[in-house]
Amino acid sequence: MNKQQAQERIKKLKKVINYHRYLYHVLQKQEISEGALDSLKHELYQLEQQFPELITLDSPTQRVAGKPLKGFKKVKRKLPMLSLEDVFGQKELEAWQDYLKRLIPGQKFDYFSEMKIDGFAISLIYQNGVFWQGSTRGDSITGEDVTQNLKTIESIPLKLEIHGKLPSKEIERNLKREIDPVRNTISNGVEIRGEVYMEKKDFEKFKSTYANPRNLAAGSIRQLNPRLAASRPLKFLAYALITDLGQTRHSQEHQVLSQLGFKADPGKVCKDLNEVIDFWRDITKKRERLPFQIDGIVINVDDNSLFQKLGTVGKSPRGARAFKFSPAQATTFVQDIKIQIGRTGALTPVAHLKPVEVGGVTITRATLHNEDEIKRLGVKIGDTVIVDRAGDVIPEVVKVMKDLRTGQEKEFKMPKTCPVCDSKLLKPAKEAIWRCPNPKCQAKQKRYFYHFISRGVFDIKGVGPRIIDQLIAENLITDPADLFELKEGDLIPLERFAEKSAENLIKAIQQRKEITLARFIYALGTRNVGVETAQDLAEHFKNLENLKKATIEELLSIKDIGPGIADSIHSFFREKRNLNFIDRLLKTGIKIQTPKFQVSSFKFQGQTFVLTGSLKTLSRARAKEKIRNLGGDTSESVSKETDYLIVGESPGSKLNKAKKLGIKIIDEKEFLQLL
Ligand code: IVH
Repeated sequence: MNKQQAQERIKKLKKVINYHRYLYHVLQKQEISEGALDSLKHELYQLEQQFPELITLDSPTQRVAGKPLKGFKKVKRKLPMLSLEDVFGQKELEAWQDYLKRLIPGQKFDYFSEMKIDGFAISLIYQNGVFWQGSTRGDSITGEDVTQNLKTIESIPLKLEIHGKLPSKEIERNLKREIDPVRNTISNGVEIRGEVYMEKKDFEKFKSTYANPRNLAAGSIRQLNPRLAASRPLKFLAYALITDLGQTRHSQEHQVLSQLGFKADPGKVCKDLNEVIDFWRDITKKRERLPFQIDGIVINVDDNSLFQKLGTVGKSPRGARAFKFSPAQATTFVQDIKIQIGRTGALTPVAHLKPVEVGGVTITRATLHNEDEIKRLGVKIGDTVIVDRAGDVIPEVVKVMKDLRTGQEKEFKMPKTCPVCDSKLLKPAKEAIWRCPNPKCQAKQKRYFYHFISRGVFDIKGVGPRIIDQLIAENLITDPADLFELKEGDLIPLERFAEKSAENLIKAIQQRKEITLARFIYALGTRNVGVETAQDLAEHFKNLENLKKATIEELLSIKDIGPGIADSIHSFFREKRNLNFIDRLLKTGIKIQTPKFQVSSFKFQGQTFVLTGSLKTLSRARAKEKIRNLGGDTSESVSKETDYLIVGESPGSKLNKAKKLGIKIIDEKEFLQLL
């Protein structure tokens, strides 16, 4: 982007950000998620870093909290209360370290990592060891005196006492001088900063009035009635010792704070970014179970003198960053819209995106579902969009930021013929999806192959899309049955193959010749037949022959099978081509195991399980198989009928729904124990 383009973009970003801030903070309304708004602010910040001459005083990046309220006494402080710049993801974290290394060449940095608690920033001053004054951040230099309200918070000590061993003799001496009123002639005061917050369980009662615990904490402290503050179960977590008592490291500050009787995160000293990332991962895992809300971790250069030397830029220190949890939504650009052809021939328009970190991973693609959805969203190539990736769902474009358009955006037109084989596309009158009707269409065949070898189906280790593409290009395979007839000699001459790797691959394929009936049915790739339906069919029909002969009526008698699914199954087994394919598969020696659940126990009988997020020790398909083997039922969506929600990593919206419905939520460990 050149300077002129950046200037235009910055102007638009400011306007849009201000509009959403106003909506959210003044009108208490919300059109886009906080994650999406953060993402826009982050883009603005990065553009301003690239073109510092374009930073203006009214930029949203220059703002800290808000102006002090009228009703409170003002507090002026010497050291401003700054805020933190965010980083999302490992790449940005590394970029920050590179930046530090450019500022102080040859320096090695270690970092102190701690939780970033989602509350309201407060400064406390103790004179002669006694709590004297507490204030809000305000505009960073001038805050509001909220001492009386803070005095109602039990976790703020009214008097400082030394409870345990301090990190150094010097600190101990200085502290004793500060807080011991006998020997102390003039107290300089001790300033401590931290966060007022409310625990999740206490917040429940206020949910209808406040959007989040942070707003509630702020609202309880920035009001003039200490009785009201006292009635709210607020807590305080200290994260910085501002007064110089001889501490040389931020980690020592945390030790001092906890020895002085504050709640403080013990955090972790990390000798490099890998350790920071490990800490972040660990916290991400614990996050759900913590009693309070956190929105990431804070990373400080641990050595205070280095931290000072690095200084500040704008309103934030260079030596610290907030490493935020990736929100489920973010904004990015649509670089192109392309058609993807699925294994059943369905054409899906896919947005090709500028890489963006959402829900913990970098994404470059988001589905636009179909032609109607493109119309509904009004999305064009070149647009800025909000993408959503809640847990395990496929990333999708949920909104177009039309106010950020330049006029250069291009409209996308759905093709009328298949972009791969040129067949005329078909769309049944009531459906939204265009399909390529050509069974020999290369794109469809490839997709079908990918499905066939995937984890939840034949699960052939070491064979991925790249190898499939290569084997097709070499004319070694035309349908998946060919895979089982491949010999080492076919592979050795190919690029990237040697004797050993050819042997391994053939072994991997041959090892997968035994398969459960449910997986085999799923492998056939019948339209509308997903994992769940395949399981239901296997349970009902017990063997393939019965399924082949099934009538529409019999199919409809199965729970969860409606007319659409029944029809596609029925017609699938009436097509000669499909029956031949099945015969060919069986001739290669594939053995279909009789369903295990007949012999296993009925421990889970009558209980329905739903999965969200990814499990570490087993695939979703395996987890479902295990549940069914024990007589349980699985479903794709949470409802009143659900008995258990199993939560893996990066859970999706199912988690909230389950909470609302009061459904029992268990993690992977608990699930394995149940098993
Ligand atoms: S250090 C330079 N540590 O996050 C700012 N902040 O903008 C020093 N916060 O204003 C803040 N937990 O309200 C720090 N462990 C933590 C924190 C933390 C929450 C808040 C604080 C700050 C904001 C960052």
